[in-house]
Amino acid sequence: MSASISQSAGKITTHILQKMKNNKEKIAVLTAYDYSMAKLLDRTGIEVVLVGDSAANVMAGHKTTLPMTLEQMIYHAASVVKGVQKALVVVDLPFGSYQANSKEALYSAVRIMKESGADAVKLEGGREIIESVERIISAGIPVLGHLGLTPQSINKFGTYTVRATDPKEAQQLLEDATLLEEKGCFGIVLEKIPATLGAKVTQSVHIPTIGIGAGNNVDGQVLVLHDMLGITQQFSPRFLRRYANLSADIMSAVKQYINDVKSASFPNENEQY
Ligand code: KIV
Repeated sequence: MSASISQSAGKITTHILQKMKNNKEKIAVLTAYDYSMAKLLDRTGIEVVLVGDSAANVMAGHKTTLPMTLEQMIYHAASVVKGVQKALVVVDLPFGSYQANSKEALYSAVRIMKESGADAVKLEGGREIIESVERIISAGIPVLGHLGLTPQSINKFGTYTVRATDPKEAQQLLEDATLLEEKGCFGIVLEKIPATLGAKVTQSVHIPTIGIGAGNNVDGQVLVLHDMLGITQQFSPRFLRRYANLSADIMSAVKQYINDVKSASFPNENEQY
């Protein structure tokens, strides 16, 4: 069997992701927010590491992603970039850093690229942010779109339920996907939409689609690392598959350490000078 496009590639670029879609090779994406986790992820051969503004939830304990600042995203992104050699590193533009106008959007994207060394940025939205998308891409910065459930707009939606279930919203999403492709996005994240719509968008656009709760007929999948590793416990949407139960492992290790300290069995003779 010949090596996959991803395995035989050096550094993953947006062009490699396009080749993967053309070749029907699925794209794996996970989030990371720090150097150590990013380094582990990169060693697995994952294609894309997303420095998501979900850092607001899993790193900072906020209820929504809205409080994340540009400085905080740059801090997380720069830490991740140091741990990654192969994967494409994509960074979320945080809420408020690109919605006002395209000039500010470009300024924010340039700061992320210059100060973190990341490879691309991600913006939430369709037609309403299209000027910003266009301006960032015209400056040579690759952009990943994000449609469907866009958590930065939670106060407009009022709920995190599945999006685009009615035909009008589904049609708008399809049009937005086409628009993002026309303006030069290298891919689109589709979050929490019906699987049939995920498949339809994936067939309609030529660029890769990355689903999170968008079914299996998309070009790749993304999950939040802390959710799929079972570090977070309360968050259990239907689309989330847990691949580990690290919260239990971490707590058991820490309890064992506490016992060892209290019983004076740590450190032993070999663990001292
Ligand atoms: O912030 C994030 O982690 C994301 C993914 C869930 C797609 O945008």
